[in-house]
Amino acid sequence: ADAFDEECDYLFKAVLIGDSGVGKSNLLSRFAKDEFRLDSKPTIGVEFAYRNIKVGDKLIKAQIWDTAGQERSEFSCMVDHANFGLVFNESFRVFKPRFRAITSSYYRGALGALLVYDITMRSSYENVSKWLVELREFGGQDMVVVLVGNKCDLEQSREVEKEEGKGFAETEGLCFMETSALKNLNVEEVFLQMITKIY
Ligand code: GTP
Ligand code: MG
Repeated sequence: ADAFDEECDYLFKAVLIGDSGVGKSNLLSRFAKDEFRLDSKPTIGVEFAYRNIKVGDKLIKAQIWDTAGQERSEFSCMVDHANFGLVFNESFRVFKPRFRAITSSYYRGALGALLVYDITMRSSYENVSKWLVELREFGGQDMVVVLVGNKCDLEQSREVEKEEGKGFAETEGLCFMETSALKNLNVEEVFLQMITKIY
């Protein structure tokens, strides 16, 4: 049986957020399928992946949601997943008030979030506070949030020091880790940290 069908003791939802191009979809595909794509396309709409994780003697099904980091002028997306009964068929702009209902269903019921920036793209780090505003508005109070500095394999192009990310995370009460989806560094660890904290 695949991860979706296997019987589990707990099921929980977590979300990926952060600017476009920071590597959210690759972190997820690395974690869920051990896959990485150098030529991955921006995500359109909402995607899901599952992975079952053993914590102690319990089997936990983590359902991870992934969406586009960018405000998009106009696109249509249809998600009609058996287990969610959720249909999006609207032009979708994350930060626009008229799409608040969609943004809110993205976060609804999520117990954890990975807020991702790219260590080689300063602007993606500066936008973290913008994502936190959205997260605090739409996410639950007790949500476990991990700030993730991705692409740490690109040390020569680094624009955000590790200590800076770490310090900001501490100020905001978030967990922190640097990762590389490409080199498979800390990917397992970052998801596991979130999952074990939730559990
Ligand atoms: P949106 O779907 O547009 O929000 O972007 P995203 O955050 O899902 O980014 P995506 O995973 O599509 O990755 C964007 C680009 O960064 C791709 O070309 C990836 O191959 C590359 N990338 C992702 N993770 C890493 C990493 O850890 N290291 C390096 N060097 N490149 C990465
Ligand atoms: Mg994506």
